[in-house]
Amino acid sequence: MELKGNAAIVTGGASGLGAETARHLAKGGAKVAVVDRNAELAEKVAKEIGGLAVVCNVADADEGVAAVKKARDAHGPARILVNCAGIGGGRRIVGRDGPYPLDAFKRIIDVNLVGTFNFMRLAAADMTVMSPLEDNERGVIISTASVAAFEGQVGQAAYSASKGGIVALTMPASRELAQFGVRVNVIAPGIFLTPLAGGLTPEAKASLEGSIPFPKRMGHPHEYARLALHIIDNVHINGECIRIDGAVRLAPR
Ligand SMILES: NC(=O)c1ccc[n+]([C@@H]2O[C@H](COP(=O)([O-])OP(=O)(O)OC[C@H]3O[C@@H](n4cnc5c(N)ncnc54)[C@H](O)[C@@H]3O)[C@@H](O)[C@H]2O)c1
Repeated sequence: MELKGNAAIVTGGASGLGAETARHLAKGGAKVAVVDRNAELAEKVAKEIGGLAVVCNVADADEGVAAVKKARDAHGPARILVNCAGIGGGRRIVGRDGPYPLDAFKRIIDVNLVGTFNFMRLAAADMTVMSPLEDNERGVIISTASVAAFEGQVGQAAYSASKGGIVALTMPASRELAQFGVRVNVIAPGIFLTPLAGGLTPEAKASLEGSIPFPKRMGHPHEYARLALHIIDNVHINGECIRIDGAVRLAPR
């Protein structure tokens, strides 16, 4: 699908992988809504790219409806959705303080998995009634999992479960939405240099980079963004999970 003139929604667009994807989309001529719970950063990115900042908790049903409406009112219905909003949080299933608090587990599932599904359902509803383009394509949805969906480390129970859920969601969603010409894919990044990694000590950073076979460095957000743009461009990529990870396979701990 062409970017030029099409409306796009990027959740988690205020930072890291989402912000870089928003920049790339805008550079390609898309009208971009930067959806994020961080108002200040969302405004900053939106201003930089000539887009629209939309403040929203992606996991909230009503806030999601209002956010998609705000984006639609400004840019028209979106043909492109990139779900990047997500949170981490390491904790053992049985830790020193006892069993994993259920609320903490639910929070990660809520933001990462429910938030992704929330925007998928709302954006897809708009896409299904839009006029078809070449190949009868109407829209494209890209979500963000993690290699932790496949080899989650000790302490990543909630995070891995949330990301595994996003991977599993991709096939039924792409099958269901195929009749409308809406494609659904998921990117599983390895270790990327985003503000999330900003707090790492040089030793921790070196150790992480040492675990990546090639190239021996963290991924740059533009490498994620370029993959997202390729998926948007290439109509035959559908129902797929693509790892972008320098062949890293996470160790147990
Ligand atoms: N950086 C990595 O190495 C890496 C690796 C694998 C997967 N990922 C995934 O990529 C995505 C982007 O990560 P990043 O590294 O760019 O992180 P980041 O923290 O830089 O960006 C995440 C953005 O999501 C927003 N956000 C969080 N919870 C939200 C909510 N409830 N509602 C709305 N916005 C919310 C944050 O405000 C932030 O702007 C995440 O889903 C993350 O799990 C990142």
